[in-house]
Amino acid sequence: MTQDYAHQYHILKENLHVKNNLLNHVYEISSLLTQSPDIDDVLNNIVDRAMNGLNFDRAIVMLLDKDEAKLECKCIKGFTPLGEKRAWNKPLYLDRHDCYETKVVQSGEPLFVEDTENASDMTEIDKIINKYQERKSVLHVPLKLKGKVIGIIGVDRYRTRMKITRNDVESLAIFANQAAIIIENARLYKALNDEKLLSENIIKCSVNGVVVSDLQGRVYHLNPKAEEILNISQEKAKKIRIDQLLQLNEKERIRIFYELKKKKNIDHFEIDYQRNDDKKLILELTAFIILDENEDVLGAVTLVNDLTEKKKMDDYLSRVEKFAALGRIVSGIAHEVRNPLASIYTTVQNLENELSENMSARDDLQNIMQEIDRVEKLIRQVLNLAKPLPLQIESVDINELLRTTIPLIEKEAKKKGIALKTTLSGDIGHAEADPNRLRQVILNLLINAIESITGKGEITVSTEMVAESDGQRKWILMKFKDNGIGISPDVIDKIFDPFFTTKNVGTGLGLSVSHKIIQDHNGMIEVESRKNNGTTFSIKLPTFA
Ligand SMILES: Nc1ncnc2c1ncn2[C@@H]1O[C@H](COP(=O)(O)OP(=O)(O)O)[C@@H](O)[C@H]1O
Ligand SMILES: [Mg+2]
Repeated sequence: MTQDYAHQYHILKENLHVKNNLLNHVYEISSLLTQSPDIDDVLNNIVDRAMNGLNFDRAIVMLLDKDEAKLECKCIKGFTPLGEKRAWNKPLYLDRHDCYETKVVQSGEPLFVEDTENASDMTEIDKIINKYQERKSVLHVPLKLKGKVIGIIGVDRYRTRMKITRNDVESLAIFANQAAIIIENARLYKALNDEKLLSENIIKCSVNGVVVSDLQGRVYHLNPKAEEILNISQEKAKKIRIDQLLQLNEKERIRIFYELKKKKNIDHFEIDYQRNDDKKLILELTAFIILDENEDVLGAVTLVNDLTEKKKMDDYLSRVEKFAALGRIVSGIAHEVRNPLASIYTTVQNLENELSENMSARDDLQNIMQEIDRVEKLIRQVLNLAKPLPLQIESVDINELLRTTIPLIEKEAKKKGIALKTTLSGDIGHAEADPNRLRQVILNLLINAIESITGKGEITVSTEMVAESDGQRKWILMKFKDNGIGISPDVIDKIFDPFFTTKNVGTGLGLSVSHKIIQDHNGMIEVESRKNNGTTFSIKLPTFA
């Protein structure tokens, strides 16, 4: 009796020791839940603990793939190199491979084979695996999560040949329960993280500016493109409200707010934007809200697209088109006028010859002839507008051209008390151009600038080299900046039209001729002006540096 009791006590103590040990290891792997979300770390740890903690000398973790069609080796330790390589390379298909591993998945129960050599239920596949892994006895337990099998963990005592007991089976099953939770957790974390990384990267690499805010207008996020377009860092942007950031006026702000509040999207609308470096932009905004699964508003996303360059190009092209059409009409008329004008001139000339020296009518006739001359000159200019100019192309040093052209109107400027300044960049390369035509353009622009200044004033001519955004093409940029009366927005679209003038004595041809010349040079001419705030004309010419 006493002996019996002592024996039972011993077994109980032994059991307690095993359970304690098991609990320790279960506890240790549980700490992985908070420590390492990396799935490979987690699997490594589980296999290590199964081996060291539960006294197995080989262990393998196989997990079901996404489709739950096959078991794939995810971690294996202690086997022969060949056995391990085979395990990595040969997944076990549930429908094709009838073996211990797949049986465990299908039954959801642990499977212990004490003596694989003499097992009667071995299949052909078991025999192959046995051969590669040199198994004597095997224990596989399922990794189960809420009753669902996600994989298996397999162990044995290959080297020590210690017996695997029922206790061992039980311990590994408990251990596996905890392991399954941790593996799933790590997998979920990875999936979540992948998804997060994906969406973060999409936003980061977007060609659109992306601004994330809440409905109260607080800014949470700016992607690099938005930082670039708006010329503001994310940190700074977060300190101001989105309506400030995007310079929305009261009307726009209210409209956007109410549309978004009604969970409606705001499609492409354009705003003018004055950047902190004084650059004027035309931005296109698209805004929508993000809802969570309960349809509650999580935030608002505003896509910002910089249309400035595109608009400029569109403007330019429509100008060129309009210009060509106008040119054709005008030159048609000019031709019609020119012929009768020539005969009028001849008739007047004959009349004048017939009159004697001192008749006063002779003066009148001379006046008429002078006027006809003026009209003829004008018609010549108009005709030049329509037909392609034969250019005398040579390599032109633009700075030098400016230096020799500006003095031609310097006297005129001085008389009006206008200061002429130049800031010419040293290294702008040469342009392939017709210097006489370019000189004509420069004079036209300078004369306009002088005429725009009423009191004292200042005209600045500058040059620089600019690169296109792709860095491939380089341009010579000439700027003519005055602080004259400026151009009002309602006529700025017309100033390049032939005969458009706001002056009493103007011909309205200076800018159209200039436009045509620059166009023939494959260049661009642009204007920026604000009423009462001066005007800047820019000319870009391709360079062949
Ligand atoms: N620098 C300038 N400042 C203000 N307005 C200008 C300037 N340059 C051109 N303009 C406007 O463009 C119009 C057309 O110019 P242009 O074609 O040279 O003809 P014109 O000088 O004969 O009027 C001018 O009448 C004027 O209204
Ligand atoms: Mg003019």
